[in-house]
Amino acid sequence: MARGGNSIVKGIEIDEVIALLNRAYADEWLAYYQYYTESKVIKGIMKDAVVVELDQHAMDELRHAGLIANRIIQLGGTPLLDPREWFEQTHCGYDAPTNFDVVKILEDAIKGEQCAIGIYSQLSEVTQGKDVVTYDMVNQILADEVEHEEDLVALHEDITAFIQQIKDTMDL
Ligand SMILES: [Fe+2]
Ligand SMILES: [Fe+2]
Repeated sequence: MARGGNSIVKGIEIDEVIALLNRAYADEWLAYYQYYTESKVIKGIMKDAVVVELDQHAMDELRHAGLIANRIIQLGGTPLLDPREWFEQTHCGYDAPTNFDVVKILEDAIKGEQCAIGIYSQLSEVTQGKDVVTYDMVNQILADEVEHEEDLVALHEDITAFIQQIKDTMDL
């Protein structure tokens, strides 16, 4: 535990920061697994481009989990040790893919990113001016989640436009 480091945390209980970070840690692992598994089962038009994006996002979520675990340990806490706790602690939940179509998978993933953006915005507000190290980390992650959402929305637009073009051509 970085005891001197903990003295910089002011106006918020360290246990509260650890608890919030552990909830985000659960979200990151579940987001990682969701992307990982979606990238395996996905089907449909332009799926290869989407697989590249899903794999990249999976690695980013895993990296976020690592950043959060390190910060929890710095604060003197312990990251969740039992995966069963992920389901108890998660904010954003886990939507097991039931429809493997590329468009549906992208829509589920966009929903997940929007939830993550909401959570990290809250964490940013809660830690602002109180725990600068956590605040900086949370904002770095938040910027990644905003980029993730944008990447997925752009792919969704391209693919749905392409599907529409094909439908229009068939109608001729
Ligand atoms: Fe993430
Ligand atoms: Fe993300």
